[in-house]
Amino acid sequence: MEKPVVRVGVIGAGNVGSALVQLLNDPARHEALVDAATGQLELVGVAVRDPTKGRPGLPSGLLTDATALVNRDDLDILVELAGGIEPTRSFVESALRRGVSVVTANKALVAESGTALAQLAHQHGADFFYEAAVGGGVPILRALRTSLAGERINRVLGIVNGTTNFILSKMTSEGSDYADVLAEAQALGFAEADPSADVEGFDAAAKVQILSSLAFGTELKGEQISREGITGVRDVDVEFARRAGFVIKLLGVAERVGESGVSRRVHPAMIPDEHPLASVHGAMNAVFVEGVASGPLMWLGQGAGGEPTATAVLGDVLDAARNRVSGRHDVPFTVDSTLRSVSAGDLSTAFYISIDVLDRPGVLASVASIFGRHGVSIQSMEQSGFADEARLSFLTHLAMTSDVEATVAELGRLEAVDRVGACIRVLDGGAK
Ligand SMILES: NC(=O)c1ccc[n+]([C@@H]2O[C@H](COP(=O)([O-])OP(=O)(O)OC[C@H]3O[C@@H](n4cnc5c(N)ncnc54)[C@H](OP(=O)(O)O)[C@@H]3O)[C@@H](O)[C@H]2O)c1
Repeated sequence: MEKPVVRVGVIGAGNVGSALVQLLNDPARHEALVDAATGQLELVGVAVRDPTKGRPGLPSGLLTDATALVNRDDLDILVELAGGIEPTRSFVESALRRGVSVVTANKALVAESGTALAQLAHQHGADFFYEAAVGGGVPILRALRTSLAGERINRVLGIVNGTTNFILSKMTSEGSDYADVLAEAQALGFAEADPSADVEGFDAAAKVQILSSLAFGTELKGEQISREGITGVRDVDVEFARRAGFVIKLLGVAERVGESGVSRRVHPAMIPDEHPLASVHGAMNAVFVEGVASGPLMWLGQGAGGEPTATAVLGDVLDAARNRVSGRHDVPFTVDSTLRSVSAGDLSTAFYISIDVLDRPGVLASVASIFGRHGVSIQSMEQSGFADEARLSFLTHLAMTSDVEATVAELGRLEAVDRVGACIRVLDGGAK
């Protein structure tokens, strides 16, 4: 029997868009694509900023601009691979209003307006899918949405930014300095010329919000969550962690707090060597989920790159095509409006704190008294270096984050303290 035709338009022919077009046009995949879509996928247009510029591997007849593509009245699925918030959101909204299903890899847009866009899709009988927005080629969102739909999840921990994991892994394996490794990552194309979205944790924060929405039902509406990047992590911190049996990773965390609280945050963390996330090296991504009945689960894979990311996009396209052919669409996840956001300061955790001090008598006593005044108890202390290089490194017992922040602020004001070098959380208090 003749299979129905499902017309697909793509905005963007960059890293991901061009890889997707290749996958869609790959003759070796043709039958499998038709089977999975239960229809014949037809690529009807690829929008770029400048359609007059030739693109290798892309027939010039397919090139168009985004407005023309979105306004086609025969489109079934729009794949948005341009990135950014505007004009992208307007293209997506316009397609959804016409009942066209949308697939995107745009974490910034989903974190900013995901709930509203999913509702808009639902109202117009369309799908809004974004598997590739978290973890690139790692299929974690569909697992949360379907396989774990009935599970009560307590915590999701993610290494969801390849650039920062590449930098921290190199600092760990080679003992190199942050600035040197960042320059190397930029030269190798693992970091942007302006790396702030990655190294300041913005990219990971958007992904944490998306993971949290599926794990707990938090709304996707562009909230600011607690965020700290890796720019303050020094080689001495990485080395201290190594000697103490930890590795430092940039961790995205979404966790249930009590019955109705959720904490969402991004920060560097010391992870015990034995934890599965400690062995996630280089630019790899991983998401670790702790469910009540399932126990621990982990997904690992390539969090970026044209082909891996396009694979996740293609999965969404096939899902949307199947729905199209059968005349149905997926219902968006339910927002739980009873959830309250718990601030990072209200959580109790153990910390590693490192301070550069003047090497003279009495300094340790004044430092220790500041910890004591704020009720932060010291688990262990190490003194290293001397003269200008003197440094005190502490591991604390569990303490309220706000008390530790007050301790660090007061330490910074102490005349004998040159500077507070690091204040890094220790995952689960370092429990092994
Ligand atoms: N790269 C990855 O590994 C990766 C991983 C996960 C998610 N993502 C997400 O996937 C999306 C695409 O990333 P990418 O790396 O493929 O980006 P990219 O290489 O910068 O490509 C962007 C493409 O979008 C086109 N474009 C931008 N604005 C447009 C507009 N207003 N109208 C029409 N076309 C427009 C550009 O056209 P021109 O060619 O004419 O400039 C270009 O072809 C982003 O949301 C990104 O966050 C990427």
